[in-house]
Amino acid sequence: MSGFTRARSAALVLASAAAAAVLAAPSAVAAPEPIVGGTTTTTSAYPFVMQITDASQNQFCGGTLVAPTKVVTAAHCMVGETTRSVRVVGGRTNLNGTNGTVAKVSRIWVNPDYTDATNGDDVAVLTLSTSMPYAPVKYVSASDTGVYATGASARILGWGTTRENGSSSNQLRTATVPLVSDSSCRTSYGSDFVASDMVCAGLPSGGVDTCQGDSGGPLLLGGVLAGITSWGEGCARAGYPGVYTRLTTFSGLVSAQVNS
Ligand code: ARG
Repeated sequence: MSGFTRARSAALVLASAAAAAVLAAPSAVAAPEPIVGGTTTTTSAYPFVMQITDASQNQFCGGTLVAPTKVVTAAHCMVGETTRSVRVVGGRTNLNGTNGTVAKVSRIWVNPDYTDATNGDDVAVLTLSTSMPYAPVKYVSASDTGVYATGASARILGWGTTRENGSSSNQLRTATVPLVSDSSCRTSYGSDFVASDMVCAGLPSGGVDTCQGDSGGPLLLGGVLAGITSWGEGCARAGYPGVYTRLTTFSGLVSAQVNS
């Protein structure tokens, strides 16, 4: 799932570590707190936020309920997974909880253009065997490209690690991060950033970000699903925003799955 992130990061680690050492005080290198830099919340507040788990209900990614039996997640979360190996858990705020609703998966659609070589096209749709009794959230349509205004406040959610190389959060966390312009994200990531497929969010100084285990989860703009947590160089590093799937590019493909 997050293996490709580590792989792609390896080449950049030395360069960015050196840059961080020059540019940032040591205390800024170790990023502070939740999702990274957020607050705890609940699945009552965000009922559409799903845990993607293995058959033993161990969470490894996030997902978003967009219809009673349809969950949007990241393609990279589904690498090596089958309908037998995956469960979706809704209504469970804490990873160590046993409450909520567990659904089996009857179909996994992975964007056929996804490859771990580029991280592009990072979207998948799971069809559940049973309905989730939680309110789904709307997702952007193809024409909603205006939602990605630079500086717009994006809400991110997940159970991922609360710092780079840290451990997962037992309780669901959330934070807001401003959208970064495509040109700025290109400056950060070079040709790894593909503006047609991806959108970036984070503060110039870092400190707030998604991190490992948040992948597949939602990025919301105006309360609407507009991105999917995909990748980044480390977590919450200055100059390296989080990278999210630009969902408007894939709305048609997602709708074809949601309506099938
Ligand atoms: N690929 C990671 C995962 O599988 C998510 C990484 C997000 N990283 C970031 N710096 N925003 O959970």
